[in-house]
Amino acid sequence: ALQAELKALEADFTVDGPKLKHISQRFEEELREGLEKNGCNIPMNVTWTLGFPTGDETGEFLAMDLGGTNLRVCWIELKGRDGETVVTQEKYPLAPQIKTGDADALWSLLAESLEHFIDANHLRREDGEALPLGFTFSYPATQEYVDHGVLQTWTKGFDIKGVEGEDAAAQLTEAMKKRNLPVRLVALINDTTGAMIASAYNDPETIIGAIFGTGCNAAYMEHVKAIPKLKTDLPGDTPMAINCEYGAFDNAHRVLPRTKFDERIDRDSPRPGEQSFEKMSAGLYLGELYRLIMCELHDKSLVFKGQNITALRKPYILDTAFLSALEDDTFRTVRTWFEAKLNLCLNEEEFHLSRRLSEMIALRGARLCICGVAAICRMKGIQSGHVAADGSVANKHPQFKARWAQAMGEILDWPSDRKEDPIVITSAEDGSGVGAAVIAAMTLKRVEEGN
Ligand code: BG6
Ligand code: GLC
Repeated sequence: ALQAELKALEADFTVDGPKLKHISQRFEEELREGLEKNGCNIPMNVTWTLGFPTGDETGEFLAMDLGGTNLRVCWIELKGRDGETVVTQEKYPLAPQIKTGDADALWSLLAESLEHFIDANHLRREDGEALPLGFTFSYPATQEYVDHGVLQTWTKGFDIKGVEGEDAAAQLTEAMKKRNLPVRLVALINDTTGAMIASAYNDPETIIGAIFGTGCNAAYMEHVKAIPKLKTDLPGDTPMAINCEYGAFDNAHRVLPRTKFDERIDRDSPRPGEQSFEKMSAGLYLGELYRLIMCELHDKSLVFKGQNITALRKPYILDTAFLSALEDDTFRTVRTWFEAKLNLCLNEEEFHLSRRLSEMIALRGARLCICGVAAICRMKGIQSGHVAADGSVANKHPQFKARWAQAMGEILDWPSDRKEDPIVITSAEDGSGVGAAVIAAMTLKRVEEGN
């Protein structure tokens, strides 16, 4: 019976080459729709990061990153492409209750962490001049200018009251004022834009910044004239970074092969009906898919027979690192882990099943999430270059990069006997630190030049 279940699951989780192509074609249509008008599935947010860096940007900047897993504050010294960038940083815990609390608690924590960091590193200037800050806010935001960002909706399981529909930059500035912090928010950026710009600072072949982490999303550079929905006086050939927010692809459920487990994840999430694509491919959900499948198999008396699976019933208890370990570690290591963390005794058959399931889930995730990158390349006619990738899945799940390359080749019809991939997935430089600093430097330079 277990083998029959596994076969059915394998069929549900397999996304073959033709299906990938079909998804990617539809993806391209949704990307174009998002550039044309507001209110589409994929919002294609303009970011006011105007072009790639020259590599000559210099200066000292604060950077703060509110991402999926951490709150991080950095002090960045940029010395140009040929100099050595110096990063001093500290991580601050982001307690789970913050993620579902209210705006006040969130912004106070951010301001307090900044204050701690500034004082611990003696960064206050004697002349009292404000320190420039690049704020990486990795959620969908409508930006009318670079130091502004109205949160469209929370993603990645966040559900903090009082921020959606409000300007996150203004709320943070207000909290900093209350503490009299000598800080001036210069730019609000997305992690994808940060990854792209930080990488381009050192690597001019960078074409896209992509995050494969708790969430999944990418940014690329578009010409202003190719963004019909944007009303601006800027010349048409001005480059503008677009934060796609493509985690929201196919919210209408037209092409993605959703299983009942994907539907369950969506139903139980704080924002059902949103981020359909992300919920099938990003790190936050990979371990959860495995957990839901195992719980169902237990309820059918096929695994952990006669055992108490209370620990496994807890939503989101398994992360990407766990899934990766299931693929790579030995039976002994995994068994010890199951005992310690889940209070479960894993037999050899369950181990092999778990390994197969984790491969299947991660492979589907990898193949699906690269469809977005491939769709950008097709839409823009990009045939070569570097995709700067960051995030916990990109960094902690070693098999992902090879799987992406394979799937990209299938979608873009690369010859199977190729010596090298024309589009290469590289490891992004520190986007929320260096990227935020470079964007802040580019912004200050523009202001100085009166543009
Ligand atoms: C980090 C980047 O490495 O990855 C952040 O510096 C980004 O900018 C983060 O938000 C995404 O990964 P995760 O796994 O934390 O969502
Ligand atoms: C989610 C966010 C997006 C971010 C991505 C990766 O999709 O909405 O802004 O870039 O996660 O962190």
